[in-house]
Amino acid sequence: MGKDIDNRTREVYGRLWRYVTPHKLIGMVAVIGMTVTAIIEGALVLLLEPLMDEALVAQNLTTAMWLPIAFVTIFVLRGISGFATEASLGWIGRSVISSLRRDVFRKFLTLPTKFFDQQTTGPLLSRMTYNVEMVAESVTSVVTIAIRDVLTVFAAIGVMLYQSPTLTVFVAFLFPVIAAIVHFLGVAFRRYSDRIQDSVGEVTQVTEEIIRGNQVVKAFGGYEYEQNRLEEVDERNRKQNLKLIRVRSMGVAVTQVIFGVGVAAVIYAASRESVDGDLTPGQFISFFSAMMLMLQPVRRITNVNATLQRGVAGADSLFEIIDEDDEIDTGTVHADRVNGNVEFRNVSFSYGKDDKKVLQDISIVVKSGTTLALVGHSGSGKSTLASLLPRFYDVDSGDILIDGTSVSDYSLASLRDNISFVTQDVVLFNDTIGNNLAYGQLKNKTEEEFLAAAEAAHVVEFVNDLPEGFDTMVGDRGVLLSGGQRQRIAIGRALLKNAPVLILDEATSSLDSHSERRIQEALNVLMKDRTTIVIAHRLSTVERADQIIVLDAGRIVESGTHSDLLAANGHYAALYRIQFSDT
Ligand SMILES: Nc1ncnc2c1ncn2[C@@H]1O[C@H](COP(=O)(O)OP(=O)(O)OP(=O)(O)O)[C@@H](O)[C@H]1O
Ligand SMILES: [Mg+2]
Repeated sequence: MGKDIDNRTREVYGRLWRYVTPHKLIGMVAVIGMTVTAIIEGALVLLLEPLMDEALVAQNLTTAMWLPIAFVTIFVLRGISGFATEASLGWIGRSVISSLRRDVFRKFLTLPTKFFDQQTTGPLLSRMTYNVEMVAESVTSVVTIAIRDVLTVFAAIGVMLYQSPTLTVFVAFLFPVIAAIVHFLGVAFRRYSDRIQDSVGEVTQVTEEIIRGNQVVKAFGGYEYEQNRLEEVDERNRKQNLKLIRVRSMGVAVTQVIFGVGVAAVIYAASRESVDGDLTPGQFISFFSAMMLMLQPVRRITNVNATLQRGVAGADSLFEIIDEDDEIDTGTVHADRVNGNVEFRNVSFSYGKDDKKVLQDISIVVKSGTTLALVGHSGSGKSTLASLLPRFYDVDSGDILIDGTSVSDYSLASLRDNISFVTQDVVLFNDTIGNNLAYGQLKNKTEEEFLAAAEAAHVVEFVNDLPEGFDTMVGDRGVLLSGGQRQRIAIGRALLKNAPVLILDEATSSLDSHSERRIQEALNVLMKDRTTIVIAHRLSTVERADQIIVLDAGRIVESGTHSDLLAANGHYAALYRIQFSDT
């Protein structure tokens, strides 16, 4: 078990090291700074001997002259080396944070949709903030300890050996005891740091949810429930932190006690004249100071082992994400613009391996330029079917073909370039209306294309009333806009993309019948020369489709045109009657 942890630690640190190596030059500055600092610390305690014996006791004038100069020089040097160390290590630390953050973010962009379905947001978010900081702190601390403190200990030991070898050997017996304790505490530490990271994620999760859902909290009086939820996770976080603090401060205390006992023993031994002949007062003070000089570094070595373990736990959680598999993108077919013949061939799909089939044996042919309408009860699998086309998910069995080529044979980029999607939940980013409409690669479109799309989607209509026009910020997830306005931006985005295959998932659901009719006109123009899959609860939007498929519990139960299906007097006719009596 202990071996496993050590191997893991080494492996994780090896990987982290690769984030540090690009900064070799700055690293050299830090190493030099730390080395100089350690040497200076040693020199300081060494100088205590002439200070005592010659300048103070023997009143030697020459020594009294050069000693002050030496001290000033040394402190100036120490200031410089200290600054160089701090600044360069800080620089490296921040660089490690940035690179890790970017790597994780890049991964988030390319992970399959399934990954996000299975994770909660809070812990994922806290990795980007809390965990990366933890890791960088760990890296810089460990480097400081490994170089500056270790060298300081060596310098101190050098001074001690120089002043009194016998006493040094005596002190050396104390160290195995300290090492054993340090090791034991490190194991305990790692356990708690893991749990702390988990509980930070929980706190983020709960907080994010109440911010996002503040209206629901208010409307349903969820105050107490949410407060309790927070207190529960926060309490867990507090307890784990306290345990960590306890282990850490115990480490410090125990080390100090052991050291204190050592000091007492040294004082006792040194006061017996038999040790190394006669120690002068200066030699003893110098030896003793060297020993005290070791106290801080040794204490930090205890602490840093803990920080190291914390860093390992943090880095582990980051590498875990970085190592996740990307979306499968092995297709090589590239199509600038497909014709848009879409075929679902015996498609079956379930969200998880053991989950029930959400779609079963679906076969549909949609000829280029025609419109397919998907209707069916809520939960029948309409959105799922649509999301398979741009490969947000991959089919379990069967195949989906565009122009006779399997969607998995296209490169993801090429496949998605050819599909416009208005999703059921409109997603807007905290940016301007203009940037939300011309999102991503749509930035490259011309001003005319942009305005034409905005006009057709009736975005211009409400943008003109805004003082800042297209530069108006939409707020977090678009909260500053109405549902219908958001939907119009999403439609504008799809229009602007002008792809040969268009998917509209409940695209006009938040619009009043007046706007809906007008957007429908724009959509009709748009749908004319491209393959369209439209999903709608309102049957008025599907009446004109070339082909209507009725889904029920993941199976096709009916298909045909509006008039065919009405004549058949089956599922569709029943749905239609319900709709009709509604209005
Ligand atoms: N990400 C997901 N993970 C697991 N199951 C899911 C996921 N999304 C949907 N489902 C399940 O798949 C089934 C079909 O959902 P889907 O969203 O395709 O229905 P829908 O026909 O679009 O319904 P609606 O008309 O309400 O939008 C539902 O039973 C749903 O619970
Ligand atoms: Mg749906």
